[in-house]
Amino acid sequence: MPDFVGAIDQGTTSTRFMIFDHGGNEIARHQLEHQQILPQAGWVEHNPTEIWERTRAVIQTALNKADLTAADLAALGITNQRETTLVWNRRTGRPYYNAIVWQDTRTDRIAAALDRDGRGEVIRRKAGLPPATYFSGGKIQWILENVEGVAEAAEAGEAIFGTTDTWIVWNLTGGPDGGVHVTDPTNASRTMLMNLETLDWDDELLSFFGVPRAMLPEIKPSSTPEPYGLTQRLGPLGGEVPISGILGDQQAATVGQVCFAPGEAKNTYGTGNFLLLNTGNELVRSKNGLLTTVCYQFGSEKPVYALEGSIAVTGSAVQWLRDQLGIISGASQSESLARQVEDNGGVYFVPAFSGLFAPYWRSDARGAIVGLSRFNTNAHLARATLESICYQTRDVVEAMRQDSGVTLDVLRVDGGVTANELCMQLQADILGVPVSKPVVAETTALGAAYAAGLAVGFWESTDELKQNWNEDRRWQPEWSGDQRETGYAGWKKAVSRTLDWVD
Ligand code: G3P
Repeated sequence: MPDFVGAIDQGTTSTRFMIFDHGGNEIARHQLEHQQILPQAGWVEHNPTEIWERTRAVIQTALNKADLTAADLAALGITNQRETTLVWNRRTGRPYYNAIVWQDTRTDRIAAALDRDGRGEVIRRKAGLPPATYFSGGKIQWILENVEGVAEAAEAGEAIFGTTDTWIVWNLTGGPDGGVHVTDPTNASRTMLMNLETLDWDDELLSFFGVPRAMLPEIKPSSTPEPYGLTQRLGPLGGEVPISGILGDQQAATVGQVCFAPGEAKNTYGTGNFLLLNTGNELVRSKNGLLTTVCYQFGSEKPVYALEGSIAVTGSAVQWLRDQLGIISGASQSESLARQVEDNGGVYFVPAFSGLFAPYWRSDARGAIVGLSRFNTNAHLARATLESICYQTRDVVEAMRQDSGVTLDVLRVDGGVTANELCMQLQADILGVPVSKPVVAETTALGAAYAAGLAVGFWESTDELKQNWNEDRRWQPEWSGDQRETGYAGWKKAVSRTLDWVD
């Protein structure tokens, strides 16, 4: 058996390839950003060809850095930004349109209509999701209705849909010359088209969006001893490696954080924040604005479900300070700037750029900075930005407690923003719960590697994976109860000011 497992993490802002050893240690990585295409307010697109080119490049560079070849990899796992929707031609491999990114709100009318005639209730019951612009179903419908030739090609089985996992596996396994058209239940559970109980596409749900079944990939387990396919010899790995794991990125992070027992949760701080609570084989339906989603399905085992609190804008609010306002030159500067002041100076920033996701699900919300007085500076805004990340997480934790009765005694965290010490301290203060970060903070890629490695026997069991998890850093709450509740009340008031903004 080769000594390593590879994982591709195709994320919202970048694509990376990582190589892990048996202890879950990182051996090599390479990462490249891709362009964020913003054609008009609320629209966010990616170029699928650029994503595939970046994927090829990161694989080759990481292998070169580590002086490894395909023969050194026991398996390959894929993890990806979820919901982002691509449609391409099966014969030519050419995309019909740019990928419509999960943050894109162009489908707000499609989503709003679902709740006017009872379809929304069926989607909640069967797919576990509230109708929203976030998920793929409405995005496919938009492409079918607005891009010339796609509807006919889809009926004929020529135009095919996939999230970016599907796009990458299709290209790695041959593309137009015989690529495999496949996804896993974690990704499929984000489309509003899959039935959570059967783990199959659901004809009634498909009819709501006018999506022909012939467009859709086959749903296979997230970890499978019989691989989805082999990488092509002429592809970026230069040899045949079994692709045996696929997980949406947030589910992958849950696996990477070894949250295998019901009641275990993790929070990933990336472009957005995503808090997932493992609910075991039980499908828990949220009454408080959380999603019910598939956490993973390994081989022939029963699926494991999760409750999820998805927050659209967290790390990307820090990027906004850098790219749109120009008040910081890099993410780390958000910490030094925010440290210049003792507190938020009365300022709250609600970064509802894509409306508000969990637990509000209000696509009519837009961002607001409130509580300003002449006393305030850039430093207060930087601090309010970090606090917004933590307050949004608190909203989700409150909803999770109400839905599941689970009170967290510690919050496991990962993702880029966890490098921000002040933000993590604020998170412990705002939640009143310790925050714990593992040594390997790249839990997303690690989770995909675990799924792929378990499938081929590189790792024997999930118990073995638990041995790989070690704590690196823990932040303890320091605020008084009073401070915590006054701060949160200010946040709730600020949120109320962002609603009903768009007609
Ligand atoms: O649901 C969207 C999520 O999967 C995106 O994650 O880390 O690529 O921003 P990330």
